[in-house]
Amino acid sequence: MMIRFGIIGLGNRGYKYALRTIMVNKDCQIVMVCDALGKNFDKFPEIAHTTSYQELLANEEVDAVFIATPDDTHAEIILAAIEKKKHILCEKPLEVSREKIEQIKLALIDYPKAFEVGYVLRYARSYQKVKELLEKGMIGEIQMVNVIDHIQYGGYAYFHDWHRTREKSTSLLLQKATHSLDIANWYIDSQPNEVMAFGRLSVMGKPGALKKFGHEVSNDLHCSNCEISDVCEESIQNIAKEKKIKWSEDWPDSCVFNSEIDVDDHNSVMVQYRNGVQLSYQLCLFDAFYQREFKIFGSMGHLTFDDASNEIKIYHRLKDEVMIYQNNHEEVQMEPGDEEQLADFISAIRTGKKPISNLESSMLASLLALDAQDSIDQHKMIRS
Ligand SMILES: NC(=O)c1ccc[n+]([C@@H]2O[C@H](COP(=O)([O-])OP(=O)(O)OC[C@H]3O[C@@H](n4cnc5c(N)ncnc54)[C@H](O)[C@@H]3O)[C@@H](O)[C@H]2O)c1
Repeated sequence: MMIRFGIIGLGNRGYKYALRTIMVNKDCQIVMVCDALGKNFDKFPEIAHTTSYQELLANEEVDAVFIATPDDTHAEIILAAIEKKKHILCEKPLEVSREKIEQIKLALIDYPKAFEVGYVLRYARSYQKVKELLEKGMIGEIQMVNVIDHIQYGGYAYFHDWHRTREKSTSLLLQKATHSLDIANWYIDSQPNEVMAFGRLSVMGKPGALKKFGHEVSNDLHCSNCEISDVCEESIQNIAKEKKIKWSEDWPDSCVFNSEIDVDDHNSVMVQYRNGVQLSYQLCLFDAFYQREFKIFGSMGHLTFDDASNEIKIYHRLKDEVMIYQNNHEEVQMEPGDEEQLADFISAIRTGKKPISNLESSMLASLLALDAQDSIDQHKMIRS
C-alpha cells in the first residue's frame, strides 16, 4: 500500500528531499505540504498546502510526516505528530535542549508507529561500507578514532545567517558536527563516557574584524552594502565566483565579521567511550577544502576514509598490502544516503523494525554535542 506523506517545512532541505526523494519513490505519495511562511508551495502545484502543521497533522489521509523545520521546532512538531499517531521521519538534530530531548523520549515509549531521524550519512554507501569492514574485524578491535570536518564553506553557510548566534543555533557542534559525531558513535559502537572540548572564535566575528579592519564592524553591515565586497575573502559574491558555488540573490549576506556572532569557528573535542575507545574530533569552519576525514586505529590495522575521494584504505599491521575500496556510485539529483534513508523508513513502517538512525542513536549524537558545548563553557570535563 502507498505511504501517504505530509511534508512540514519546505525550506532548503524540506522541498528538495520531498521533490527528489519522496515524490519519485514508487511506494510514496505526497498528499499535503506545509510551510509556516508559505515557502516553495509553487513547487507542489497539484498538492494541497497549508501554513499550519496542525492542519496537516489533522488530515487523516496523511500516514507519515517528514519534518524539515528549524532544529528548535522539532520537539513541538514531533509531539503533535505522536498525538496523531503518524509515522515520523524528522531531520537531524533531534532537538536543541536536553529537556526537549527527554520529552520526545518519554512520548515515544511504546509508540506503535515508525520513528526515524535524518542522520543521512548512516545511509550513504561509503559510510556503510566502513561500518561493514569494521564489523568484519578488518582492523581488529577499534582502539582510537580521529575525525576532522574540513569545511571550506563555513563562512557563507553559517556566518552570514541565523546559524551564527547561539540563541538561534545553540552551537555549530550541534548544527554541523553532529553528523560526524553520530558516525563516530556508530563506528565505535558504545556510549560517550567523558567529554572534554575546546572552542574558539578567531577568524570570523569580532576577533576577525579586529584583525582585518582594526575595529569592530556594525551589525548592519552586509555584503550588499559593503565597499570591499569585491575583494573580501568572505563576501558571498566572491565565494560564489571563486568556488563556482550556486547561491541565490536572497541568500542572507550579513557580514561574517559582525560583533553579534558568538558561535565558535573551530572546535576540538576529546571523548572517552564506555568501551574504552578514544575519539578526537576537530571542526574547522574556515578550511581551504571540504572533506570529512576518518582515521580509525584498530588492534590489527588502520582504516582511513574521506568522503571527498570516497576511498577507504585498510593497512594491516603485519602485511605490506594495502586494501582499497573505492565507491564510484554517483547520486543523481539526490545527496548520498537520501534514497536509502527513505527506504529504511518505509521498511520500518512496513515491518516494525527499528531504523538505523533511531531515537536512541540520535539522542546520543545530540547529547554528545551538548556535552561538548558544556565542557567548553564550563572549562571542565563532562561525564555523560
Ligand atoms: N541531513 C541533511 O543533510 C540536512 C541538510 C540541511 C538541513 N538539515 C536539517 O533540516 C532542517 C531544516 O533546515 P533548512 O536548512 O531546510 O532550514 P530552512 O530555514 O531553509 O527551512 C525551514 C523551513 O521551515 C519552515 N518553518 C519554520 N517553522 C515552521 C513551523 N512551525 N511549521 C511549518 N513550517 C515551519 C520555514 O518557513 C522554512 O521554510 C533542520 O533541522 C536542519 O538541521 C539537514
